[in-house]
Amino acid sequence: MLILRSAADVETLVARERQNGHTIGFVPTMGALHEGHLSLVERAVSENDITIVSVFVNPTQFNNPVDLATYPRDEEADFRLLAGAGVSAVFAPSVEEMYPGGVEGRERHEFALGMAAVVMEGKYRPGHFQGVAEVVSRLFAIVRPTRAYFGEKDFQQIAVIRNMVQSEGIDIEIVPCPIRRAGDGLALSSRNALLTPEQRRLAPEIHRALADSVEYSRSHSVRATHDSVVERIDAVPGMRVEYFEIVDGRTLLPLEDWDESPWAVGCITVYCGEVRLIDNICYKKNI
Ligand code: PAF
Repeated sequence: MLILRSAADVETLVARERQNGHTIGFVPTMGALHEGHLSLVERAVSENDITIVSVFVNPTQFNNPVDLATYPRDEEADFRLLAGAGVSAVFAPSVEEMYPGGVEGRERHEFALGMAAVVMEGKYRPGHFQGVAEVVSRLFAIVRPTRAYFGEKDFQQIAVIRNMVQSEGIDIEIVPCPIRRAGDGLALSSRNALLTPEQRRLAPEIHRALADSVEYSRSHSVRATHDSVVERIDAVPGMRVEYFEIVDGRTLLPLEDWDESPWAVGCITVYCGEVRLIDNICYKKNI
C-alpha cells in the first residue's frame, strides 16, 4: 500500500490508473478507523480496480476548537488496518497540503447545499457542512474517483454531499453504506473511543430507544414518537439529547405527520458527558 502525503503524488497515480481504464473507489475518512470504516473500504475494494482512502482531520468542519483538539488520531494503527484491507493507496496530507494559503487566509467558496445544510447538524454546528463540502470537493478534485463511499451513520452528511455534487456538476457516484453497530447496538464511531467505561455501558440506550420507537410509531403520532425517544434518553444519567428530529429522508425537513412523506428518518444527537454521538433510524422508506 502506498502512503502518499502530497496531492501531486495522488494525481500522478490517478492519471496512470485512469489512462489504463481502471475504476477508482474512494473512502474519505478522518482516521481513528474502526469496523464501520472498514466496511466501506471492503465495499470499495470489491467494486473498483483500485481503492484510495484519505486520512485527514479537516479543521474547517470543526466549529469547536476543543472538539478538533481532542478528535482521536492514530495514524500508524490506521495504516496497518488499511494495508490489511486491500487498499491501494492512502492519502494522508498535512493541513498545509490541503489548505496551502492557510486555513484562515484561504479563499472561501460558498457551496449551494440546500436546506440539508441548515437544519439539525447544520443548525447546531454552523459552518460544519460548508467545511465538509469544502474538503470533500478538494479531495474529489485530487482523487477523481469513480465512486465515493459514505456511511449512513452520517445520514445528513450524505444528503449534503449529494447536493454538493449536483450543484457543482461533479460526476462521481455517491455510494451510501449501512451503519455498522457494536454487538450492543451502539453505532460505531471514532468518538466512541472518548467515552468512559460507564458512558460506553450506557450509550447503547440511544439505539435501543430509537429501535423501540419504530414499533411505537405504528400506533402513535410523529410528536408522541419524538417525545418518547427524547424522554427515554434524557432519563439516562449523564446523557442529554441535543436534538431529535423526524424528517423527510430526501429533504431533511421535519415531518408533522407520517403521511407527509414516503421516507421518514429519525436523526438524533446525544451528549454522553462531553462526547457528542449521532445516530439515526428509518421509520419507513417506500421509494
Ligand atoms: O465523515 C467524515 O469522516 C468526514 O466528514 C469526511 C467526509 C471525511 C470529511 O472530512
